Amino acid sequence: MAVGIFDSGLGGLTVWDAVHARLPEVPLVYFGDNAHAPYGVRDADDIYDLTTAGVTRLFEAGCDLVILACNTASAAALRRMQERWVPADKRVLGVFVPLIEALTERQWGDNSPPREVAVKNVALFATPATVASRAFQRELAFRAIGVDVEAQACGGVVDAMGEGDMILAEALVRSHVDALKRKMPHPEAAVLGCTHYPLVEAVFRDALGPAVSVYSQPSLVAASLADYLGRHPGRLGPGHEAMFLTTGDPKRVSSRATQFLRREIAFRPA
Ligand code: DGL
Repeated sequence: MAVGIFDSGLGGLTVWDAVHARLPEVPLVYFGDNAHAPYGVRDADDIYDLTTAGVTRLFEAGCDLVILACNTASAAALRRMQERWVPADKRVLGVFVPLIEALTERQWGDNSPPREVAVKNVALFATPATVASRAFQRELAFRAIGVDVEAQACGGVVDAMGEGDMILAEALVRSHVDALKRKMPHPEAAVLGCTHYPLVEAVFRDALGPAVSVYSQPSLVAASLADYLGRHPGRLGPGHEAMFLTTGDPKRVSSRATQFLRREIAFRPA
């Protein structure tokens, strides 16, 4: 009954944490492609090749349903995977759709035609590859009309956090928020479209101000997954062992993961 969670590295542990808290009885197999992270500065073909390789490993581990916790993979590879790669008996889902459903006040899984929604000005903060893909705008256009999206590529934030330099990460977040506000002075909502940003969510909130509603992924993804599994219980795969897999050095990745999530995490080789 395992479910797979794919990420380019450690950031997806924010999603793992929320899913585990929401669905403690479901064994989760986490795959971190640490050997090839970060994805946010790679090109789309590269991201597609790496993501399909990682998801294949999760299928092999008995996961029939895989969540791409990585926004960059969801943005740059998911649609192509769903259109011509995912086998008929498997499902791969991304992190943008739950976010957009929350933003546009839809029920989970509501695929009805796009309609006018309350929110009109949305700020998107994400990696350069996610912003370049325009996947968020595309998925939003399937569900809402008349929404203006201003995207800010937050160069340097993931790297600073990866190096444990939170002072630099916070300074970069503030400067990216300033840059966004020069383009869109009064966003009503802000989407934190990267696995790492929940860890600096307070800085985003502070820099954006109290008038802006901030949408952060982990709890939304967990709630929408719980709803999806309630509607599709057959999607739980044959795997039964929870584990953490990495393409990187398991010892090093485990120690960084333990710091990142502030709980003991032991990775094994993918
Ligand atoms: N996981 C990526 C994302 O959510 C951030 C880290 C990376 O660039 O690989 O976009």
